[in-house]
Amino acid sequence: MSKPIPLDVEIELDPKRYIVSETDEKGKITYCNDYFIEVAGYTKAELIGKSHSIIRHPDMPRVVFKLLWETISQGKNINAVVKNLAKDGRYYWIFTEFESRKDTDTGKIIGYHAARKSISKFIIEVVANLYKELLEIEKNSGMNESEKYLIEFLKDKGDDMNFSNFMEEIHRFY
Ligand SMILES: Cc1cc2nc3c(=O)[nH]c(=O)nc-3n(C[C@H](O)[C@H](O)[C@H](O)COP(=O)(O)O)c2cc1C
Repeated sequence: MSKPIPLDVEIELDPKRYIVSETDEKGKITYCNDYFIEVAGYTKAELIGKSHSIIRHPDMPRVVFKLLWETISQGKNINAVVKNLAKDGRYYWIFTEFESRKDTDTGKIIGYHAARKSISKFIIEVVANLYKELLEIEKNSGMNESEKYLIEFLKDKGDDMNFSNFMEEIHRFY
């Protein structure tokens, strides 16, 4: 399936509804709720079994997903603001809580869960500026450099600030 061409048109989200999906341990979609389907604009059949990158927006820096996978594959939770791409090329920004799903007997990771909510225009602006910088660095100098930039950026926000906490703080306060 070829990727839709991004349009500079934002989808207005219902602040009361969660956009939920689940994947297997490799990131293939195993479940999505009705609001996910409505916003993404794909049918359920088009989504189930596909890689979650089906809704990846080209404005998203790769380092964010590197961090995401490094964290959740260790069984830890992480929060991230993400810009997603709908089937028709429009976009939507959300605050996402990623969690791992574990086998209750063995504790082994069997997949992942993501719950997303709409965010304020202010947060979008702050994060969009950061992601723009990261993407630019990635294009010119690669992901190692964008990771270094992100680490320095977070250090600047506080001694033990990490990406997930930063995302949660701006989400909580604005
Ligand atoms: C539970 C779960 C939910 C995800 N949700 C999204 C999402 O909403 N948007 C997105 O671009 N990537 C999401 N991802 C990350 C994708 O799996 C993928 O890493 C990302 O789109 C980058 O694509 P790439 O790994 O092919 O570069 C999710 C991953 C998991 C495990």
